[in-house]
Amino acid sequence: MKTLEWEDNKLKLIDQRKLPDELSYVYCDNYQDVIVAIKNMTVRGAPAIGVSAAFGMALADIEGVDLDKAADEIKSARPTAVNLFWAVDRVLDSDDALAEALKMYEEDMATNRAIGKYGAEVIDDGDTILTHCNAGALACVDYGTALGVIRAARDAGKNINVICDETRPRGQGASLSVWEMQQENIPVKLIPDVASGFLMSQGKIDKVVIGADRIARGGVVNKVGSFMVALAAKHHDIPFYVAAPYSTFDNEISIYDTIIEERDGDEVRYYGGARICPEGTEVINPAFDITPKELITGIITEKGIIDPI
Ligand code: MRU
Repeated sequence: MKTLEWEDNKLKLIDQRKLPDELSYVYCDNYQDVIVAIKNMTVRGAPAIGVSAAFGMALADIEGVDLDKAADEIKSARPTAVNLFWAVDRVLDSDDALAEALKMYEEDMATNRAIGKYGAEVIDDGDTILTHCNAGALACVDYGTALGVIRAARDAGKNINVICDETRPRGQGASLSVWEMQQENIPVKLIPDVASGFLMSQGKIDKVVIGADRIARGGVVNKVGSFMVALAAKHHDIPFYVAAPYSTFDNEISIYDTIIEERDGDEVRYYGGARICPEGTEVINPAFDITPKELITGIITEKGIIDPI
């Protein structure tokens, strides 16, 4: 299963808004469609956004649109995952937009397997691993970063149990990560976001592995809630790993200079279509947070496990 594919000069995307109940696809035949798909979360997750953006540039090229203009528009789709900017700039600097996008598509699959290989080395037989949000196949072309580590450990013969934070407000842990693990018959349990500290105190979590939207000087930006998990893990002396490709690194800036996306308040006001607070309640809804580097055990990359920068 591929999260995204280039088919008949169109970008084919799994519609992640419909999971876990329905596996259906959206087809983008122009670059504006790709921007809409990134904005409305048909496709999400840093590497998947990056490769989709690269195909968006390829579509703009096929349409005969000025690529500098398309690049600016595509870059404005979401602000936090650095892969989006990295991918657009890489296509802009290339001689052949489609060839470059196809190369990045292939690279993403190979990169995730390399991350998995290195990550599996720090996973022990019998581990219960907590993950937050979805850093799985659905966040990449396939296989995943954090969930790729889990897949690789399982394929190396280790018995792994997975615990997924539900990941309010959009529930990517519940709807996407749980679904992915179930597809592969990897034992998985869903918990409310607020339960991980308690489970750690009970000895029920051995390691944490999450993904990243941006790694810069001083720490890691990932889905909101990651920081709280890292604090709880530090308190309980539980290893906290971030699995991410080098395309997620932004070596030039301090992590505190990252723009953290603020999303629509209705994501918090409503749960399963029902309002859960008084009408008109003011909401703060940051999509990501910052985990400082002192809380991170290691970053699992395609070239090995490294210290945070
Ligand atoms: O808002 P999303 O669903 O795009 O957020 C995704 C995450 O935070 C992932 O953990 C991150 O992009 C890493 S994906 C390999």
